[in-house]
Amino acid sequence: MTSTVLEPALYAKARLPLEQAETLPRWCYTSQQFYDEEVGRIFRKTWNFVGREDEVPSAGDFFTTDVVGESIIIIRDRNGQVNAFANTCRHRGTRLLSGSGHCRLISCPYHAWAFAPNGELVAAPGMEDVSGFDKADYGLIRIRLESWGGFMFVTFDPNTVPLSEYLGDAVETFAPYRFENMVCTRRKDYDLACNWKLYVENAMEDYHTATVHRVSIGKQICIREPSTANWDAIHMPSEKTCAILPGETTPFPHIPTLTGKSAGGTYFTVVYPNWFFATTQDCMWWLYVQPKGPARSVVNHGACFPRETVERDDFKTEVRKYYQRWEKSLPEDNEIAELQQVGLESTLGRPGRLSPLEPVVHAMEQWVLDNVLGGKLAQRSDGRG
Ligand code: FES
Ligand SMILES: [Fe+2]
Repeated sequence: MTSTVLEPALYAKARLPLEQAETLPRWCYTSQQFYDEEVGRIFRKTWNFVGREDEVPSAGDFFTTDVVGESIIIIRDRNGQVNAFANTCRHRGTRLLSGSGHCRLISCPYHAWAFAPNGELVAAPGMEDVSGFDKADYGLIRIRLESWGGFMFVTFDPNTVPLSEYLGDAVETFAPYRFENMVCTRRKDYDLACNWKLYVENAMEDYHTATVHRVSIGKQICIREPSTANWDAIHMPSEKTCAILPGETTPFPHIPTLTGKSAGGTYFTVVYPNWFFATTQDCMWWLYVQPKGPARSVVNHGACFPRETVERDDFKTEVRKYYQRWEKSLPEDNEIAELQQVGLESTLGRPGRLSPLEPVVHAMEQWVLDNVLGGKLAQRSDGRG
């Protein structure tokens, strides 16, 4: 595509109500130009999921992550606060950390400048006689980080609304799951040749479950939930957890604070743009789809259980049933996402139509178009930042 990619008329049919709408044009999933607009207009401005606070329980615990090409350090300091910093040295820019681990100081491998876990530059050997040099001016570059029930998000934009405002009524809707009482027990990455939207859209529709998952979790029937902020959900009624394969049983208790629909089924939720999570009676899991290019994504799978469940004597053996469920169902989704991507790469392809079983696919397409074409992401107006 040329510069016409931002021309609203190109999306007129995708903008129609679900019953009449066509799917997004194929270039939304394949073109570098559309992808670059998404990076600039969505990912550089929105709240991006990075992980769980309980993954860095002690001072000096850290992990690094990548958000649309920016390497970020997440590290807990001696006051217990978790910080996000650009992973670049304040001397001559060397990358400081990789992977995850524990450190007392972040020490640059090049000339040994050392930063405390709160970002302060505490040692700069050989810089004592440098004119006007004050260590206080060269701390690590801080990135805005806010949390929701232990889930951490970062944004590069000082004007983005606070996370709680961005999430809106999701905070109240999911409060009974007590995310803050959960522990992350699993993280696994899948490097896939597909556009990030394909994976999120797939996670938010049950239309594919009878075919793609016929030998694992089988057919699921979900109903769309109302929401008013930057998220959407579908609900699947069921007596018991859907985080194990049909036919398996589990001794893990239900979360005692659940009532009504949350006690009687599973919510599949997307926090736009790219954080999917499922909440069922005894646990939650997420799929964080990191965009790496128009046709490449890293899907990070994580799972959390209530602290009391993780402390059970039988946790390590019984949790295998849950991991087995994801080991079976996720590769099925991975395979179909890559197959859809190569199909969409065909220059002969044309938009299709959506079924009534895909309301959130349609909603997500509108959210993406609202922001890529219209720059609708809410900006705070209080002058802070
Ligand atoms: S680049 Fe980090 S100390 Fe020189
Ligand atoms: Fe699926």
